[in-house]
Amino acid sequence: MHFGVDYYPEHWPEERWETDARLMREMGVEVVRLAEFAWHKLEPSMGEFDFSWLERALSVLDSQGIKAILGTPTAAPPAWLAESTPEILPVDSRGTVMGFGGRHHVCHSSAAYRSRVEGIVRAMARRFKGDGKVIGWQIDNELGNSQKELCHCESCARAFRAWLRRRYGTIDELNRRWGTVFWSQTYDSFDQVPTPRATPNAHGPSLLLDWRRFRSDLLAEFLEFQAGILREEVPGVFITHNMMGFADQVDYFRMGRSLDFVSHDQYVTGFWERSGDYRPHRYAANLDLMAALKRRSFWIMEQQAGQTGWEILGPDPEPGQLALWAAQSVAHGADAVVFFRWRSCTVGTEQFWHGILPHSGVPGRRYCELKSFISSLRPVMDEFEGALSEAEAAILFSYDEEWALGIQRQHPELDYVEQVLAYYKAFHDRNVPVDFVGEDGDFGRYKLLVAPLMYLCDQALASKLSDYAKRGGALVLTMRSGVKNADNVCMSDAPLPGALLGEALGIEIPEYDCLRMRSETIAFEGKNYSGSKWLDVVELKGARAAASCVGGRHAGCPAITEADFHDGKTYYVATEPDDALLDAFVGRALADAGVAPIGETPRGVELVRRRTDASDYVFALNHSSEARSVDAPPSWKKIVGESILGPRSFSVYRIDR
Ligand code: GLA
Ligand code: ZN
Repeated sequence: MHFGVDYYPEHWPEERWETDARLMREMGVEVVRLAEFAWHKLEPSMGEFDFSWLERALSVLDSQGIKAILGTPTAAPPAWLAESTPEILPVDSRGTVMGFGGRHHVCHSSAAYRSRVEGIVRAMARRFKGDGKVIGWQIDNELGNSQKELCHCESCARAFRAWLRRRYGTIDELNRRWGTVFWSQTYDSFDQVPTPRATPNAHGPSLLLDWRRFRSDLLAEFLEFQAGILREEVPGVFITHNMMGFADQVDYFRMGRSLDFVSHDQYVTGFWERSGDYRPHRYAANLDLMAALKRRSFWIMEQQAGQTGWEILGPDPEPGQLALWAAQSVAHGADAVVFFRWRSCTVGTEQFWHGILPHSGVPGRRYCELKSFISSLRPVMDEFEGALSEAEAAILFSYDEEWALGIQRQHPELDYVEQVLAYYKAFHDRNVPVDFVGEDGDFGRYKLLVAPLMYLCDQALASKLSDYAKRGGALVLTMRSGVKNADNVCMSDAPLPGALLGEALGIEIPEYDCLRMRSETIAFEGKNYSGSKWLDVVELKGARAAASCVGGRHAGCPAITEADFHDGKTYYVATEPDDALLDAFVGRALADAGVAPIGETPRGVELVRRRTDASDYVFALNHSSEARSVDAPPSWKKIVGESILGPRSFSVYRIDR
């Protein structure tokens, strides 16, 4: 299975289903995802199930050779459930009960909701157990998508307290580690610990970080709860979930553990973009994060198939772009691409989130483009199935850092993910494959590791990083490293960045400056650049200054340092470099570490690799609106596309070893 569509037969008259299935087969569709919002059609009233329409839809699809992934419909609880059991509705931070409507109008800790979830999931699984038309399951839909700031109900408050009790054991220990002596926040028992409801003034950062962790664990555990039911009832078929790239509600590393493989929803342009905001490195980074979660290839469960938007619309994708974006997904490790959605819907919130077919159902440009895309790529998809880029460089990505820096931004525009993406872009622009790796990951497989903003960095993490460099790795750390421990409390046992990191980096940071309304001029390798948002005022304790501030209060202060450390090398970037400085610095670090690019390309052309035991498969993706040529060495054998890349087109090369 390599190509599919998200299909909602329940939105259309049954007479149309055969036409749909035939058109799908003719375009190369082998799999559909179904039913993930159809709870009411599947259970019209409590305990009364009706799977007959879904069975008929599966048969119609099967007659065209199309298999199915079933979604558990738990993201869309029906009105009868909200009416009979209003405690399933979530409560916001002001104590307001959210109403029925839209989707995900639920509290994920609610026992009443869980029991109805178990009812529908078990019944559905039992009905389709052993049915060869169903090859796998998707649990719920984009968990976390609608859950920001939720839920503050009594059940969630109890669950939060139980979570805290497991983490801290006693209330005295919690008081000690959070430092609740500040502002008389001391709790006499766990029952007094609030969820972070609206207050006249800010909650403490330790409580807020644990709340984010608890929320993430709750959603991950909700998914595990459903996975447990499915593993019991339908062993042997795969279980996945559609994630959302750099969404921040759930630790996807944890969530990935209970899935056979992860899936991702890839939307490239939409109402959310400002004009001219086309940034291929961001779409690439989403995909590379998905590959990192289980260090394995993944599925795209929703790949953009048209113009998107609910109320306001994004631009109409240019001719070629839908195929190019799908090719980018494959290039970065997708083994299957399922397009969202088959046909534009005439009703409901998403009438203008366009599918492959327009509202009329008459196949047009998008259908033709994706049909020819599938026929060009399908013949080679098996060759690199399961393969990833096997990068020699990595960027550390941590939800804890993201959450902690979201709670205390330091600078109003400092954003953890943006900073991670800025470093990612420097690799991407040079066609150097780069992995994301979590804090628990194996750093040792990489020659170069960039760990931006290691703001929370306890002893264990600091020694893992320092050991990596000791054993020969090249380690890049950046501003605000080593500030806090895992309880989100400032460390005080040594000057910044702490004893271990300070030794590894050969620096000390006695002072720091938040660069408000001004930036620093920074000299690096004979040229001037700028640094903004922040400056750690570094003192050299063995390191060398690779870049320094020019003029102003911090004149002469090192902005980038480098040091030899045992068998490895360490760097510290004490500010947020502009793009050009980042590019120049990453170029230098790559050269030092001996990490080579896949190849050089003209502007706008991305090179991506999937490496199998026998061969490298190199995708050349022309994101620009002009023709571009790729200087392919003689050993590159072209297996898809043309040597001269037309605007927004791609080709694939195989290099045998
Ligand atoms: C998400 C969801 C889909 C659909 C699309 C478009 O990715 O998973 O159900 O809502 O967005 O809005
Ligand atoms: Zn709740």
